[in-house]
Amino acid sequence: MPADFRLLAGEQIARLEAYKPGKPIEELKREYSLKRVIKLASNENPYGTSPKAAEAIISNLPELSRYPLGDAYNLRMALSEKIGVSPANLLFGAGSNEIIELLLRTFTHGEDNILFPAPTFSVYAIIAQAMGAASAAVDTAPAFEFDTDALLKSVTPKTRILFLASPNNPPGTYMRERELRRLIAELPENVILAVDAAYAEFADAADYPDINHWHREYPNIVVLKTFSKAYGLAGLRIGYAIGDEVCIDMMNKVRQPFNTGSLSQCAACAALSDTEFLNKVISANLKNKHLLYKEFEKLGLSYIPSQANFILVRVGDGERVFLELLKKGVIVRYMGTSLKEYIRISIGTEEECEILLSSLKEVL
Ligand SMILES: Cc1ncc(COP(=O)(O)O)c(C=O)c1O
Repeated sequence: MPADFRLLAGEQIARLEAYKPGKPIEELKREYSLKRVIKLASNENPYGTSPKAAEAIISNLPELSRYPLGDAYNLRMALSEKIGVSPANLLFGAGSNEIIELLLRTFTHGEDNILFPAPTFSVYAIIAQAMGAASAAVDTAPAFEFDTDALLKSVTPKTRILFLASPNNPPGTYMRERELRRLIAELPENVILAVDAAYAEFADAADYPDINHWHREYPNIVVLKTFSKAYGLAGLRIGYAIGDEVCIDMMNKVRQPFNTGSLSQCAACAALSDTEFLNKVISANLKNKHLLYKEFEKLGLSYIPSQANFILVRVGDGERVFLELLKKGVIVRYMGTSLKEYIRISIGTEEECEILLSSLKEVL
């Protein structure tokens, strides 16, 4: 008799729905025999990777037979210098996804659970469920704005981590500085506020706070950042946490010894130094965001103003529009039944935006 792996995994894992990534370009080309496909589904960087990062990868190839630096020493020092945070306040992971997992593995035990506004990045709930931690969601409907009072009211003695993506994914909304200060000040001190700032570089609102140093004032805040988005290194899987030294030390004990690869570390280091590339990406994103807003308005489509590199657009039947766009070689993201009237569109290059808009006009 073969083993019953569902039973062995346990009910919470057997019932888990695996994360569904955006459809890969090659897959769509094969399915519909398409020559040109554009992917605006995973909030990736449409401008590629910093040339300095690419050079650093090539010059580090001879070191590939060696294990990477477990503590990411060079990257740690470079980032510490760049953002003015002590090296002991930094922890690196295979994408910020690994940091999310490390937070949960390190700080939730037994009956502990987590809290987040909804809708949000699905990985918090997936990892929590895999680890047997319950999740509580606080609705942000109808405008997708965070409700600080509702979040605070939902904290129970079992709440260990509050995940707050700001800018949030999928709506692109953010928590204003005053509200964020109030939230962290009023949270019980044994609740960790994990602010997932994966898209922070794109935020242009004057009251979007720079929270890189907030752990000095509020030790229970942990900031999650990534090189996957504005820095264009999604394929290398590298992200980091900024937090209180002891908090970082606890997670450091739990992480695997060589959790980030040597090419990822050296590419991230080089990308940090390439401010020209970063600034180009950020300003092009902003310009194309406004171009899309204007065109959506002309089409009579409502959208959620975004602080990130994607826009949540209300198109009526989201699934139909998503499927019709696929046939035209445009991959966007259908957000599932809870957001069935919407699609999420990553902001591409100007050319990609034009292709998207002309396809969208035909489909609508
Ligand atoms: C809010 C948010 N956090 C984290 C991530 C994960 O990014 P990484 O590539 O750093 O694991 C994503 C990816 O889309 C995201 O949307």
